[in-house]
Amino acid sequence: MAFLQFFSIILLLFPLLSPTFICCSPVQDPELVVQEVNEKINNATMARRKLGYLSCGTGNPIDDCWRCDPNWEKNRQRLADCAIGFGKHAIGGRDGQIYVVTDSGDNDPVNPKPGTLRYAVIQKEPLWITFARDMVIKLKEELIMNSFKTIDGRGASVHIAGGPCITIQYVTNIIIHGINIHDCKRGGNAYVRDTPEHYGWRTVSDGDGVSIFGGSHVWVDHCSLSNCNDGLIDAIHGSTAITISNNYMTHHDKVMLLGHSDTYTRDKNMQVTIAFNHFGEGLVQRMPRCRQGYFHVVNNDYTHWEMYAIGGSASPTINSQGNRFLAPDGKFYKEVTKHEDAPVSEWKNWNWRSEGDLMLNGAFFTASGAGASSSYAKASSLSARPSSLVSSITAAAGALGCKKGSRC
Ligand SMILES: *[C@@H]1O[C@H](CO)[C@@H](O)[C@H](O)[C@H]1NC(C)=O
Repeated sequence: MAFLQFFSIILLLFPLLSPTFICCSPVQDPELVVQEVNEKINNATMARRKLGYLSCGTGNPIDDCWRCDPNWEKNRQRLADCAIGFGKHAIGGRDGQIYVVTDSGDNDPVNPKPGTLRYAVIQKEPLWITFARDMVIKLKEELIMNSFKTIDGRGASVHIAGGPCITIQYVTNIIIHGINIHDCKRGGNAYVRDTPEHYGWRTVSDGDGVSIFGGSHVWVDHCSLSNCNDGLIDAIHGSTAITISNNYMTHHDKVMLLGHSDTYTRDKNMQVTIAFNHFGEGLVQRMPRCRQGYFHVVNNDYTHWEMYAIGGSASPTINSQGNRFLAPDGKFYKEVTKHEDAPVSEWKNWNWRSEGDLMLNGAFFTASGAGASSSYAKASSLSARPSSLVSSITAAAGALGCKKGSRC
């Protein structure tokens, strides 16, 4: 009996010892990752020119990987191999079963019913979560996800809205794809279940659309996000290995905060790719606001901001390539960038660079540090993607209307 107990304890511990769990703050060589992203964009662009030869020719390397498969619905888990950038190793629920959400309710966040979204996300095993029909899910409390989960809204119109939204806290390998996340509110002062064995007390939450707290290997793709209480997507407290791609964001003030505080140095390891997003109507600032880590911002379409587009503090590295920046009308707020909370004598050393960005309506980018020296571009073997591609590459940003049996 004692032996059996010992044995089952070892079995319980085993998943914690496997490599995917150990590598919770994986630091990648940033310039190599950037180079690979640029090569993939190049390849997709070339394939587009050859009109479908080797690809379906969207020119978007993530979409080319799956969107032209008319059987996408039977091959859902192939999406997991389509990410690029720092979050490319996020496999989500690729190696698990498909789970279908049939119940849009969330009556009891401590004892979620089978068939609900909350029941799926707390499970220990990998799951690829899909939806039986169109639904609006108004959560009662934050949705606290467990590792190795994909939330895949393709084939249905899925809204997580009107209540608290998604929390990715101290977990790894999460994919969020094809859902609408909006009107997110604060939750808290309540018990919420986070695994089948455990529930805990949650204090009041920020009310983010997607809150990543000490999370790694996270990919948020083709979501539509708007109008939340705090950030649309915030990543803090040692989060890293993140890709935020193909999203359509609108109607929000503080769009993305990446980095906890100026003194929280664990965020030096934060590495985030922001690619092919459309930052649209009604946005004000923080697309993103960065601290400490490395941020690759590539081929995004910035059509609206009221204060600034990209900013940060505490010496982040910002590598802006091939974006289109359309400044607001009027005399002010033409500057894309904002160096925050430091005197010029300090921020002039922060490595912020702009390569191949398209500046419209008076937009300008204030480069600094190594990024400001003309030798930088020469020293780098990278070439920025032409910003002229941005409108076609981001044309389908946001949740897609996918139908079974045809291309998405
Ligand atoms: C780009 O295409 C070339 C030629 O097909 C291939 O060898 C290379 O691996 C591709 N690069 C990436 C990053 O996918």
